Amino acid sequence: MHTITITRGDSKQHFESTSAASTLAIAKKLGGTLRGGDIVALFGDLGVGKTVFAKGIASALGIKETVVSPTFVLMMRYRIPQKKEKKIHARFLYHIDTYRLVGTRAIVDAGIAEHIGAPDAITVIEWPDKLGQLLPKTTTYVSLAVPDGI
Ligand SMILES: Nc1ncnc2c1ncn2[C@@H]1O[C@H](COP(=O)(O)OP(=O)(O)O)[C@@H](O)[C@H]1O
Ligand SMILES: [Mg+2]
Repeated sequence: MHTITITRGDSKQHFESTSAASTLAIAKKLGGTLRGGDIVALFGDLGVGKTVFAKGIASALGIKETVVSPTFVLMMRYRIPQKKEKKIHARFLYHIDTYRLVGTRAIVDAGIAEHIGAPDAITVIEWPDKLGQLLPKTTTYVSLAVPDGI
């Protein structure tokens, strides 16, 4: 059993996910509410489903390409199809993974920080805790966990 908590401003939603498919469905629902400039920060341990969650968001944005983990490339950019682009005012999905970077400075040096929150994009970040204070208050926080003994 995985727990997923989505915090957006004052609103907090809790979900329980029994499978990768159910995490995808929860992510898809959130993905459908995103607009250009929005940032989603995905917290949770290795293997807990952050990349699965990013795939669900991409699917909601109409992205047909296979979303792969950006652990080694640090950032992937996907084009949002034109029909969706008009509706949500975003052209790109940036999928960032800071796992291999140490510290906020390295992330800035890698040229990743400048893309975060771009007005024409939706940004999804794995291991966002490494960004320190770089994330704005408007960020949507998603925490994935596997509580002990479940
Ligand atoms: N409830 C669940 N939610 C998400 N993934 C799950 C779940 N149960 C099992 N899995 C599996 O766990 C793995 C999660 O991998 P991944 O999304 O790459 O993790 P992370 O990006 O957090 O390191 C996938 O292989 C997925 O199929
Ligand atoms: Mg991952």
